[in-house]
This record gives sequence, structure tokens and C-alpha cells, in this order.
Amino acid sequence: KNIVVLISGTGSNMAALVQAQQQRQWQAKWGARITAVISNRPDAPGLHWAKAHGLATQVVDHKQYASREDFDCALAQALEQYQPSLVILAGFMRVLTEGFVRQFEQRLVNIHPSLLPAFAGLHTHQRAIDAGCKVAGATVHWVIPELDAGPIIDQAVVPVLAGDTADSLASRVRAQEHLLYPRAIECILARQAAQSHA
Ligand code: GRF
Repeated sequence: KNIVVLISGTGSNMAALVQAQQQRQWQAKWGARITAVISNRPDAPGLHWAKAHGLATQVVDHKQYASREDFDCALAQALEQYQPSLVILAGFMRVLTEGFVRQFEQRLVNIHPSLLPAFAGLHTHQRAIDAGCKVAGATVHWVIPELDAGPIIDQAVVPVLAGDTADSLASRVRAQEHLLYPRAIECILARQAAQSHA
């Protein structure tokens, strides 16, 4: 079973997933493997990490496409080469069209840096601080056409501390994301494996 990870930037969640698959033997347990990493940005630092760790990488540069539909079509084509059983969005900063989401329905997972349904969209950490929240966190969820609104798979909670800035809160949340995302994906893989044996 092929898993493809989509990134736009640093790729620290991607790296956490790759490390988890090695340490916790996804291939042996569930026959699942992260086969490729695709970025919409040619300069995404995560691409270097992925290459250095022996993963296939590909760029589908959104700037080369006239419309969102054209970009999503090219991205879907790139993905279909791998016949992925799971497509993991890990800091992938493009809003996907309904057509794309439907094509990969039930196979498309995202991590969002807030406790959804609070703070969908951008600037989640500053918004949580401004609202006076005492806790913040991250959510792993299935992707549906509506942004950051799909069924919740798992969440992690961190405290918001006095004097927190968006950056300090983001790094506390990020550290939890690196534990949460692999754990959530492992639940999905275990369930997919159980279903295919049923
Ligand atoms: C994470 O905070 C994730 O929740 C959000 O984008 C960030 C990606 O970070 N969607 P990285 O590229 O995985 O380091």
C-alpha cells in the first residue's frame, strides 16, 4: 500500500511520519509505505530532507497552472501514478477543489494546528491567544470539500501559557503534532488492514 505525503514547507510532520514508519515498522505490520513526497513549492525545504532519506520526490508547482482546477488536475495525475491508499497533507498550504477531494475521498487526511472546530483557516495560534484560550492544540481530520471541517480522527492538547507569542505556542503545538500525526495514521492503517482481511 502506497502512502503519499503532500508538503509545502519545512516538512517536519512528514519527517516525523517517515521516522515513525521506520521505527514502528509500518511495512511489516500493515504492508504500508510512504512512497513519495510531492510539494507544490519547488523550494520547500522538506524536499531536501525527503530526497536525503531516499524517498521519491516530485514538484507540482501551482504557479505553473492558470487555475485551481488545472493545478488540482495535475496534482491528481501525479498522485495516481502511485495508486495511493492514503494521501497525507502535512503542511500542504493549498485549498483543494471539491473535484479533487471527491477523487481521493476516504483517503485524504490533514493536520490542522488548532482544536477544531475552533480556528479553522490561518493564524490559528494568534487567534487562540487573542481569544484568551487556556488550551490550544492540533487536529488530525479527514478532508472534505469544506475547509478544515472533516470528521475528526484525533487531537492533541497543549496549554497556552502567560506571555505566549504565536511562535512559542506554535512550537509547543508542533512538538505534539509530531507525536499525534503518526499515531493517528497508525490507527488508520490498522483499521484499513483489518478491513482488507475481513
Ligand atoms: C503544521 O503546524 C501543520 O499543522 C500545518 O502546517 C504546519 C506544517 O509544518 N498544517 P511542517 O511543514 O510539517 O513542519
